[in-house]
Amino acid sequence: MSEKIGDDFQKLTKYKRGKVGGFLDWSNKPKIYKQYPNSKKIMLIFDEIKTLSFDQTIKNRKSVRNYSQNPLNIKQVAYLLWSSTGIQRVQRDYKFRNVPSAGALYPIETYLFTKNTKNLQTGLYHYNIESNSLEELIQEDLSAPLSKACLDQSMPFNAPITLIWTAIFQRSKWKYKQRAYRYIYLDAGHIAQNLALCAATMGLGSCQIGAFYDQEINKILGLDGKKESAIYLTTVGYPL
Ligand SMILES: Cc1cc2nc3c(=O)[nH]c(=O)nc-3n(C[C@H](O)[C@H](O)[C@H](O)COP(=O)(O)O)c2cc1C
Repeated sequence: MSEKIGDDFQKLTKYKRGKVGGFLDWSNKPKIYKQYPNSKKIMLIFDEIKTLSFDQTIKNRKSVRNYSQNPLNIKQVAYLLWSSTGIQRVQRDYKFRNVPSAGALYPIETYLFTKNTKNLQTGLYHYNIESNSLEELIQEDLSAPLSKACLDQSMPFNAPITLIWTAIFQRSKWKYKQRAYRYIYLDAGHIAQNLALCAATMGLGSCQIGAFYDQEINKILGLDGKKESAIYLTTVGYPL
């Protein structure tokens, strides 16, 4: 890696007065909903979730790295997914989400690995945002390879669930070109914070993970790492 690639990026993606904007090719606007049409779907519902006050939620949020053996239930998982990347409202025929996103282009996808959720088979799923459902991908315990891919950190091995956030870069690059990379990581930060607060408000703990071998995580998800690549992970469970 070039010693100054980050410095160059920061410099070269600065907006300069009079040089912002340009032609937007609407005929090539990327789709913002990824789907696995051939996979089995599990619809997600989360009524009657018990939550703490906003003040207590803020005070309770901290990184939790050790989890009890208590399983999550599917309503908790549904609430976590919806709070972080789910659809909140329809305005001018456009579906907006619970988190802000530059240009409302929503470049982030969510994959869920569950090891210990009641009534949900251990394995890897993709969150279908538009239909608020899980798409079954791999029915296998991937907790060991996930932990290994996170620089041997133990959280994905011990946690009942691990969320993996990926970016489909073109969704944002279509409008913002190389500056899109700034926005994509900012988007992911908003998503992760909603997730962390959602976990905290249900009495759960989470830990955000930025240290991982990118290609190892991409291989587990079956991604090329170019068009779509893992950028961030979170584990969630009951604090030990
Ligand atoms: C971008 C980012 C990446 C992080 N990556 C890791 C990680 O790989 N492993 C880990 O144990 N914690 C990770 N953390 C959690 C931080 O270590 C933690 O937020 C920080 O120590 C502050 O503690 P607190 O979250 O309990 O307030 C990450 C946090 C952020 C925001």
